[in-house]
Amino acid sequence: MATKKKADQYNDPSHNYLHYWDGRDYEHEAEILAIDRLLKGKHFKHAVDVGGGYGRLSAILTHYADKVTLAEPSKQQLDIAEDFLKDYPTVERKLMQADNLKFTDGSVDLVTVVRVIHHLPDPTAEFAEIARILSPEGYFFLEFANYANFKNRVRHIIRRKKLPHDPVDIRSDANKHNNEIPFVNHNPKTVRKQLAHAGLRVEKVLSVSNLRSPRLKKILPRGGMVAIESLMQPALAKSYFGPSTVFLARKGR
Ligand SMILES: C[S@@+](CC[C@H](N)C(=O)[O-])C[C@H]1O[C@@H](n2cnc3c(N)ncnc32)[C@H](O)[C@@H]1O
Repeated sequence: MATKKKADQYNDPSHNYLHYWDGRDYEHEAEILAIDRLLKGKHFKHAVDVGGGYGRLSAILTHYADKVTLAEPSKQQLDIAEDFLKDYPTVERKLMQADNLKFTDGSVDLVTVVRVIHHLPDPTAEFAEIARILSPEGYFFLEFANYANFKNRVRHIIRRKKLPHDPVDIRSDANKHNNEIPFVNHNPKTVRKQLAHAGLRVEKVLSVSNLRSPRLKKILPRGGMVAIESLMQPALAKSYFGPSTVFLARKGR
């Protein structure tokens, strides 16, 4: 398969993605809650964390899979992962990007993609490639930035505007001007259609990071936020309430 433009933007030495997570324990735990809720009771032979960065969640996947591959296009992220994952010998690190995954057809039984498709305005080729490597009984765990979240819906109602179905570029004008890495929010209905086009059917949905707000973080203890988040994730899934949506998909239409 022809590879798209090289996705090596996370090699920038002035940007260490590891530090992005300072002060974001709530969001990190919210994503682990979603993984645990959807993968509980399942066990996999081979999980591939596509665009897994320095392996933040590859480490969590070791609870669910005999072998985990951190498949990441940034050499810098893989170098950081060497230290971050030193206590996780079942995780291998491979330089590759989502539209050209170097695994044979149907050979992987879990693929995860978390916080990646905001860099992919059109993830069609990547979804097709994931469907190719997924085994017939495999699962695809996808997390993405949800443009149709509650706050945006209210904003659109107030402005009497229709919620767009196409991805929305949320970069600053300066970043657009400097041609920085794409940064979009997706409409979940469109993502569902793109998955279906690749032969992937959404089985479960969660609404994630529902309490993401600097103000709430100041007044609520983290444990309380995580407990409330746990209740909100399934309850608000159908309405795509939160800023992040998780789909668990499988092969089939
Ligand atoms: C915001 S980070 C998320 C990292 C990790 N999934 C996490 O949640 O901690 C985005 C990651 O996507 C990777 N990425 C960007 N474009 C990609 C592509 N076309 N294929 C695979 N990964 C890509 C980047 O290199 C980066 O590591």
